[in-house]
Amino acid sequence: MENILVTGGAGYIGSHVVERLIKLRKNVFIVDNLSTGKMKLINKKAKFFKCDIMNYKKLDIIIRQNKIQSIIHLAACLSVGESQKNPRKYYRNNVLGTKNLIKSSLKNQIKNFVFSSTCAVYKDGLITVSENSKLFPKSVYGKTKLLGEKNILKSFKLSKVKFAILRYFNVAGASSSGKIGQITKGDQLFKNLSIVSKQKYPQINVYGNDYHTQDGTCIRDYIHVSDIADIHIRVLNKIKINKKSIILNCGYGNGISVLDAINEFQKQIKKNIKIKFLNRRKGDMEQIISDNKKIKRYLKWSPKKNNLTWIVKSCIFWEKKIK
Ligand SMILES: NC(=O)c1ccc[n+]([C@@H]2O[C@H](COP(=O)([O-])OP(=O)(O)OC[C@H]3O[C@@H](n4cnc5c(N)ncnc54)[C@H](O)[C@@H]3O)[C@@H](O)[C@H]2O)c1
Repeated sequence: MENILVTGGAGYIGSHVVERLIKLRKNVFIVDNLSTGKMKLINKKAKFFKCDIMNYKKLDIIIRQNKIQSIIHLAACLSVGESQKNPRKYYRNNVLGTKNLIKSSLKNQIKNFVFSSTCAVYKDGLITVSENSKLFPKSVYGKTKLLGEKNILKSFKLSKVKFAILRYFNVAGASSSGKIGQITKGDQLFKNLSIVSKQKYPQINVYGNDYHTQDGTCIRDYIHVSDIADIHIRVLNKIKINKKSIILNCGYGNGISVLDAINEFQKQIKKNIKIKFLNRRKGDMEQIISDNKKIKRYLKWSPKKNNLTWIVKSCIFWEKKIK
């Protein structure tokens, strides 16, 4: 049976990836420092190690002793706003942490490596981006993820490690199992809207209404977390079979503005959400949408939850479940 290590497996997306792997009866090992991850999200059938990826010695022992064959690396800090204020933290965690994993992967002859990257690596203002679009991150967060990608490309190039770099667009929603979903509050719009939706008089801050978009607010491409988890399973299988590495955009190709999202939440909760417009936030991109032709072709993939109404319903359902 295959031994798979998931870093960040106690986090939002990581817990969904683990849930899928466990369903497929894989041997799953989790490394997480619980900085934003939660014990509640850790699958009981996985073996958990509370460990920081900055701790190379401990990380390397876990990988060696558990005979890890594949690594899915999700552990990272991911708030664009925080990254602008505290770049050192992001550089250490996202760049040096990833370097530690690469080093141990090479030493222990890991076969497959899947890396969580982001659409924040692309140049702002391009609107729809393919994997060949210009890379020019606007935020510190995006810069650290791009450095992670470059280190993977450089380090694994001459090795036998096959890798997949997955550039997620904006992830939202929760598992239909009802057991896992996003707990930690960050600067993600759908999470914040889910939280305020529970209030009697909901109010939300919107950063910038003077962007060059239809309604003046930022546009993003939201993908349901179940589809993201599914992509990890398929890509891992594919790189094993093909024995070739790949870079893929993970998005639906739909542009949704901040106001579109607010309207959908209002419709579903049947309440007015008061909007407080604030200045633009440093590091935020104006609009970014995925060209997903490559992933569709490569994985013969088609999204299962590509519907704003379903995504919002799934967010509201989960938020009601957690106190
Ligand atoms: N959520 C999104 O919309 C989105 C979009 C693009 C990319 N991503 C990427 O997906 C990955 C997972 O994000 P998420 O939304 O699940 O966030 P999350 O905060 O829920 O998950 C990150 C996990 O990593 C752990 N972690 C962080 N630093 C660590 C360290 N040094 N050592 C060990 N564990 C550490 C945290 O405790 C947490 O459990 C990240 O790499 C992120 O950059 C997320």
